[in-house]
Amino acid sequence: MLIRDIAGLVVVPPGPLPGERMRAVNIVRDAAVLIEDGRFAWFGAVGDAPAPKDGQTLSANQGCVVPGLIDPHTHIPFVGDRAEEFARRIAGESYLSIMESGGGIRVTTQAVREATEQQLVEENLPRLRRMLALGVTTCECKSGYGLAPKHELKQLRAIRELDRRQPIELIPTYLGAHALPAEFEGRADEFIERVASEALLQQIANEKLARFCDVFCDKGAFTVEQAQRVLARAVKAGLTPKLHADELAQIGATRLAGELKAISADHLEQIDEAGIAALKEAGTVGVVLPGTSFFLGIEHCDARRLISAGLPVALSTDCNPGSSMIESLPLVMNIACCQLRMTPAEVLVAVTANAAAALDQHHRLGAIAQGYDADLLILDASTLDEWFYTPGRNRARMVIKHGEVVYEA
Ligand code: NIG
Ligand code: FE
Repeated sequence: MLIRDIAGLVVVPPGPLPGERMRAVNIVRDAAVLIEDGRFAWFGAVGDAPAPKDGQTLSANQGCVVPGLIDPHTHIPFVGDRAEEFARRIAGESYLSIMESGGGIRVTTQAVREATEQQLVEENLPRLRRMLALGVTTCECKSGYGLAPKHELKQLRAIRELDRRQPIELIPTYLGAHALPAEFEGRADEFIERVASEALLQQIANEKLARFCDVFCDKGAFTVEQAQRVLARAVKAGLTPKLHADELAQIGATRLAGELKAISADHLEQIDEAGIAALKEAGTVGVVLPGTSFFLGIEHCDARRLISAGLPVALSTDCNPGSSMIESLPLVMNIACCQLRMTPAEVLVAVTANAAAALDQHHRLGAIAQGYDADLLILDASTLDEWFYTPGRNRARMVIKHGEVVYEA
């Protein structure tokens, strides 16, 4: 298939793109894209376009074309909501104090434990369909609300089923050490033996139920030493480490991410110089979640500082019912642009090439490059600036996954 009438083709090169290379996108005016077998076969000026073998053409109607968006950090699938907590926070309580008084993640854990795998699937399918309509073609999904082997496995199996049932490609992460469930109060080490036993991690890896293992390493969650124990075992089992780091307090979590050569360290609101140096040395992607700081009313991560330091930065929704009930990656992109002062090009790289790198998929996703999966978004905007200039307006006109039109406005 040949896509023509492209006002601007935003050529994002393969990631990871660190520091100032995040601005290195190339825009081809009056462009065309040739897709063969679900992959990019050719792209360039429309005058040079080869004829498609199948004779099929598609008009972009003078819209911009960008790579399909990648959301590299979500807590989908979950059930229920915590709107009541949201109201308490607006009235002045903090996320941490609600968590310490027995609310927070434990409330969602209760709901997820009561739900069947089928219910997890049914409640999250519409969510993923809404995300698709915003231009998302790949999304990371985490367990972490079961907090017991049986319920964690149920969540991972629900991710697998959700992946089969809709067009967004889902990449699963095991987050068994997300919070301490009530029945293990005061016994965190025992809990870790339960949800991060060698046998369970090996089963998860063998059945390919997860590709990554994540830990919530923060004040009120797990210590650096506990996270280190879980992730060392995960690596032995064949899972790649990720880390929730430096969100609520500075306890050295980002340094651990660097030491473990984690594929990504996520949140980073409280990152310090040692953390930045550790990520840089390890080549770890920094995943910034400004939707969470917006939703919680806390200070944003200083993404400019990370970019100036030469790190590859990705952006994500952190979609979850407690700290970011935000499904819209474009909304997060707008916050990053307007509040974090990231340029439109940097933001786009953060949700394509660098998001792919945060999921270890940068060899096939997140770029417009020959042989890469033809995941793309045709916008109802003729330039990147025009797209970013209108927060809250969905500019996705057509979404293509692996060369197939999977959504049309
Ligand atoms: O990324 N930080 C830990 N986990 C989530 C919150 C999950 C929840 O509140 O349900 C986060 O912010
Ligand atoms: Fe998270």
